[in-house]
Amino acid sequence: MKKFFLAPSILSADFARLGEDTQNAIDAGSDLIHFDVMDNHYVPNLTMGPMILQALRNYNITIPIDVHLMVQPVDNLILPFAKAGATFITFHPESTKDINRTINLIKDHGCKVGMAFNPSTPLCFLDYTIENLDLILLMSVSPGFGDQIFLSSTINKLHEVRKRIDASAFDILLEVDGGIKIDNISSIAHAGANVFVIGSGFFKYPNYKIIVNKIRQELQCSCYRDVH
Ligand code: DX5
Ligand code: ZN
Repeated sequence: MKKFFLAPSILSADFARLGEDTQNAIDAGSDLIHFDVMDNHYVPNLTMGPMILQALRNYNITIPIDVHLMVQPVDNLILPFAKAGATFITFHPESTKDINRTINLIKDHGCKVGMAFNPSTPLCFLDYTIENLDLILLMSVSPGFGDQIFLSSTINKLHEVRKRIDASAFDILLEVDGGIKIDNISSIAHAGANVFVIGSGFFKYPNYKIIVNKIRQELQCSCYRDVH
């Protein structure tokens, strides 16, 4: 398996030319696309629904898309997002009444399951669920907006989740979302993350190849430091 995955959050893309901007991010070397869904209820912001996801698939965006649901309730949006072309559907455990039901709905509709943790959400939600997850997402800001400051408490939490994943022996991706920039990405990688969501720190660059190369360089150095 590849060691690190770069997942630009199109929350910071140009919505007036979303297809083209997303394709440019892919052409620059992104591994997956992070798609933030906000409902003005679970979080105080309103973004994109399944029709936009379908429009991206119709535009021939074929790489995996990680749909990050910041919505409440969750379950009635799973089928529309699965049909529209979600690869991963990631939900917040406190936003659903029955975690097991939500996990099964995501799987039954052919998608991979992600569970997202807000900065203050305890990891006990992994008890009895970890074996059913494909991805664990740690929020490193309060969800709802791009371009916030990375919370350093995420680093300890990351170490803890990395231990749990390794102890489980399951192949679970560990994703971090919020405030990732070129100057903190290697410490996030060191703490055990392997999927990096980057919104404002990616789309602010006029040429995405520049930021992708910078990130890859940082992560390669970080691998090097791991080994030696
Ligand atoms: C925030 C979203 C993030 C956001 C990250 O609630 O879940 O995915 O786009 O943006 P940056 O990288 O700008 O913090
Ligand atoms: Zn997100």
